[in-house]
Amino acid sequence: MLNLCILAIHLKLIKLFMANSVSIYEKIKNFNNKIEVDGDKSLSIRWALMASQAIGRSRAYNILNSEDVNNSLISLKKLGIKIKKKNNFCEIISKGLNSFSHKNNTIVNAGNSGTFARLIMGVLSNCKNTVIIKGDKSLSSRDFKRVIKPLNLFGVKINSKNNRLPLKLKGTKFLRPIKYYEKKGSAQVKSCIMLAALNTNGKTIIKCKKSRDHTEKLFKHLNLPIKIIKKKNFDIIEIFGKKQFKGFDYKIPGDISSASFFIALTLLRKNSKMLIKNININNTRTGIIDVLKQMNAKIEFKNKKIYNGENIADIVVSSTKKLKAVNCSSNMNSRMIDEFLIIFLICAKAKGISYFRNLEELRNKESDRLKIAISFLKMIGIKVVSNSNNLKIYGKPNLELKKKYTIKNFNKDHRVFMMTCIAALSLGGKWKIYDKDSINSSFPNFLSIIKFLGAKIK
Ligand code: S3P
Repeated sequence: MLNLCILAIHLKLIKLFMANSVSIYEKIKNFNNKIEVDGDKSLSIRWALMASQAIGRSRAYNILNSEDVNNSLISLKKLGIKIKKKNNFCEIISKGLNSFSHKNNTIVNAGNSGTFARLIMGVLSNCKNTVIIKGDKSLSSRDFKRVIKPLNLFGVKINSKNNRLPLKLKGTKFLRPIKYYEKKGSAQVKSCIMLAALNTNGKTIIKCKKSRDHTEKLFKHLNLPIKIIKKKNFDIIEIFGKKQFKGFDYKIPGDISSASFFIALTLLRKNSKMLIKNININNTRTGIIDVLKQMNAKIEFKNKKIYNGENIADIVVSSTKKLKAVNCSSNMNSRMIDEFLIIFLICAKAKGISYFRNLEELRNKESDRLKIAISFLKMIGIKVVSNSNNLKIYGKPNLELKKKYTIKNFNKDHRVFMMTCIAALSLGGKWKIYDKDSINSSFPNFLSIIKFLGAKIK
């Protein structure tokens, strides 16, 4: 026992002293390559949650092997769900809706994952025993009122300090269907309500500003009773609950949010080309492609196919010399909510002034991404004008960096880390970028792919 404790202390010390930063001193050379990025995070977490509510065995192939997904699986295990990870698939065996078997006050740790923390709250809406949901420092600073409010209407009791994690959730047997207007365009809020609705007798109606529709697609794929009326600026979703469904196999494609860093790297390099295989090109996620095409980018979808109701394709992208600025309508925001940082970087190198509007949701991500983007762009010599939550970026097509830059204290936001690596590899300068572990939230293979493409990173 004592030996084990000493070993654990040693491992902790080794981790503490191991460099958690990277240095990039050279731009990446031109490339012409084919890559695959890690599995889609939204789909991996949704599969695990839905499989935990199905009757029988479910398997996911190419599930994302990242901290956000692993914390989701560990949490479901703590709630009594059987989960096994094999070499090429993950298996969940369950007994149907609300078949959790945890004790009162079971603690689940969502880590950095807003998606898991918010969606599991809907799944737990009629569980008998209380659950305490906690998260890391970044997640504990994020808003949960957005899900507490609709769940209270269902009859779920939630105790929290300032609507933040940790929170204590007590489900109710007498869950009632609700009518709710979701105005933020948040897929996490919409999905939390949809999952709670699954546990009610009766019809829940959600009027929601448009956002990614993976949960709707999964409900349809599983033949659950769902009706969707699509209007120009919002959708109306009707769900009839208490319908059991069987375990299911699911093939997870690559994540377009992870692919976007390599799309940017190719666009910002000279004479380069990249094929990114098997990416989820669900229309509610491809705002970045539409915006980049408006900016003159050469991007094509090839080899289109469908996996479990989701559209998939290989993305082919080539360097583009004459990138031009974009005037972006706020209707696009939810279709590229996780890609703004990398889009802003591309705008820094585009000719003209780019405009973005109503970016308040960017302040509620793993870090305040709007604040970080503004100081980052200013640091690399780009003029930006921001008033309230709108942003103007004055692009410099000849932007080349020579100075030394250090990036730290960004709340370990994985997307800030990855965007900074792309800036360093495409614009030059001598960079030290801290918190490289942050990539483990969503894209653990990020640095190995960058190195495979020829980047020199220490
Ligand atoms: C996600 C929805 C988005 C996104 C997040 C994943 C999802 O958040 O930023 O990374 O899987 O539903 P919001 O729904 O809060 O905008």
